[in-house]
Amino acid sequence: MQIMARTRRTWNWLILLVHVALACFVVASGDLEEAETLLKFKESLSDDIALSNWNESISLCTGNESHWKGLMCLNGAVFGLQLEGMGLRGMINIEALTKLPNLRTISFMNNAFDGPMPQVKELGGALRGLFLSGNKFSGNIPDDAFTGMKSLRRVYLENNEFTGKIPKSLAKLPILADAGLHGNQFDGEIPDFVSKQLRNVNLSNNRLQGPIPDSLQNMSQSSFSGNNGLCGKPLDPCKSKKKAIPKIAIIIVAAAVVALAAIIIAWCILRGRRTKKKQLGQSSAKPNKKELANYKQHKEYQSPGRQETYKKSESVKLDFVRNERERFDLQDLLRASAEVLGSGSFGSSYKAKLLTGPTMVVKRFRNMSNVGRNEFHEYMRRLGGLSHPNLLPLVAFYYKKGEKLLITDFVKNGSLASHLHGKQNPNQPGLDWPTRLRIIKGVARGLAYLYKEFPSQTLPHGHLKSSNVLLDQNFEPLLADYALVPVINKEHAQQFMAAYKSPEFTQHDRTTKKTDVWSLGILILEMLTGKFPANYLKQGKGGNADLAAWVNLVVREEWTGEVFDKDMKGTKNGEGEMLKLLKIGMCCCEWNVERRWDLTVAVKKIEELKERDSDEDYSSYASEGEMYSSRAMTDEDFSFSVNG
Ligand SMILES: *[C@@H]1O[C@H](CO)[C@@H](O)[C@H](O)[C@H]1NC(C)=O
Ligand SMILES: *[C@@H]1O[C@H](CO)[C@@H](O)[C@H](O)[C@H]1NC(C)=O
Ligand SMILES: *[C@@H]1O[C@H](CO)[C@@H](O)[C@H](O)[C@H]1NC(C)=O
Ligand SMILES: *[C@@H]1O[C@H](CO)[C@@H](O)[C@H](O)[C@H]1NC(C)=O
Repeated sequence: MQIMARTRRTWNWLILLVHVALACFVVASGDLEEAETLLKFKESLSDDIALSNWNESISLCTGNESHWKGLMCLNGAVFGLQLEGMGLRGMINIEALTKLPNLRTISFMNNAFDGPMPQVKELGGALRGLFLSGNKFSGNIPDDAFTGMKSLRRVYLENNEFTGKIPKSLAKLPILADAGLHGNQFDGEIPDFVSKQLRNVNLSNNRLQGPIPDSLQNMSQSSFSGNNGLCGKPLDPCKSKKKAIPKIAIIIVAAAVVALAAIIIAWCILRGRRTKKKQLGQSSAKPNKKELANYKQHKEYQSPGRQETYKKSESVKLDFVRNERERFDLQDLLRASAEVLGSGSFGSSYKAKLLTGPTMVVKRFRNMSNVGRNEFHEYMRRLGGLSHPNLLPLVAFYYKKGEKLLITDFVKNGSLASHLHGKQNPNQPGLDWPTRLRIIKGVARGLAYLYKEFPSQTLPHGHLKSSNVLLDQNFEPLLADYALVPVINKEHAQQFMAAYKSPEFTQHDRTTKKTDVWSLGILILEMLTGKFPANYLKQGKGGNADLAAWVNLVVREEWTGEVFDKDMKGTKNGEGEMLKLLKIGMCCCEWNVERRWDLTVAVKKIEELKERDSDEDYSSYASEGEMYSSRAMTDEDFSFSVNG
């Protein structure tokens, strides 16, 4: 445990070195004034033995190093106070602290302060972190206690003796990420939180009641436990108030009955018609009519084009691109029992179990008229010639002017996306760390192979995303939908394909050899955090802002162990390696294409990763890590002070 924590701290430390190195910062002087200010601040404290080395004759900071206990320095200026677990009491002189222009985070955790909450809003719009937990602060917090604190992201008030309502101004903080309010005596209803960046708001063990606002419905249940009467997601639904029921209920029931009757009647009529049609059709039907109906149930298959295809289907031959594979034709696929797998951005895909045994996937592409027939055939043969353990092989295809079918094997275990985001059953275990590592290594190898095979293509994959990473029964990844850029219609590609969501395309209309690397980076971050990259949901270029927010949030601000997917098991002794992968993900997601790694570097770094941290990692980093011992101090606070 300790070692893990150390490694993490070490990483935080290394990472903030990078942050700091990147920052252009003018060293603030005025050391002396700041020293006076701090001594003034100290005057109002009691039991301050811990601060005995606060002495004007010692300078406060040299560079990033602090010489006064509990001070945090950055580039020669005081940016944080971390007075934790020092048995301090007395008055917190906020007024004095306002004279420290670079102050970004203050922590008085686990001391013996009491009385009302200090008037922190006087510190204004620059403060990022406030840590007051584990004291004896008490009384109501005024509603406007946090007004104007537009940079505040982390507020920890837990385990005090606060009473009354949760202050409205706290809920209105625009970029609040974490708030610990648990273990107090807050009562009344929970206000709606406005921040779009909320990560964890813990309200457990208070006296709160009423509905949980929508903004908090994604928090874990444990954030609400130990209250009197909270209801609504993620807890049990609220019971609607009894008074209002009777009249409305009668109206609703009546309306429902009428609607149901209408549906039944309509259904009977339609059914009558359909049977008639069927009977008419059957006279001229081919023997396989019944199996065809299976397909036709799905709307997609009722388009005129489809009908035509299947009428002539006896003569329709599939083009096989691999010699070793068993032959079948479209007719066999139609005869097989089919199941719609889903409809992606290109068209629907179907799973068909052939009578002879194998299960195939048929994927329909409507927007593949970029190249003519011969060229298409030639390119498909080329794809068929690819062979790599991490590529889903193309088996056959079918060419028709308006649409193409690509036929591949069916992969049992579904896609990485479905494992990360689409769990049917909440008890189903998430992918563990060794599995995730194996997956990303496989993805990297498959991608490297594509780069080697298509040296002249800008986007050898072009559509790398978690739903295109399929998993076989051993959770080995198989890349799907690769190398299709040359045959997809340009407009459609730019609207839907993953590569075109990259910053270089959304901003500068260009893609480069490093664009697939960006997709790889997103995949890494998605896999480690369990978060879905929301921009993929949007079509066309509009997704950019969302992506920026997401990458920023994950990479720049959640740069700690907390960022990892809670469902990821088997992380013991691997946290250093996980952080390395996170860093790799970030380097792949670098917006500046010049600075972004190219694929060979990314693959090399990924290949170097191990399941467990090696001894050498923690022994050499541990000593530096020591100084960052509390959660009040993360690089987050550092990076804020650099940026703010
Ligand atoms: C500060 O340090 C000097 C010299 O080390 C010492 O003489 C002085 O008493 C100290 N002042 C305080 C307030 O501790
Ligand atoms: C703070 O630390 C970082 C890393 O050592 C360094 O790059 C930066 O220059 C330091 N700032 C000062 C003023 O020493
Ligand atoms: C909660 O999570 C779901 C799915 O992850 C998301 O669609 C929804 O927007 C989230 N709600 C809030 C209030 O964050
Ligand atoms: C919230 O706080 C309680 C202690 O009051 C703790 O048991 C629980 O794990 C916390 N939940 C979250 C999501 O932090």
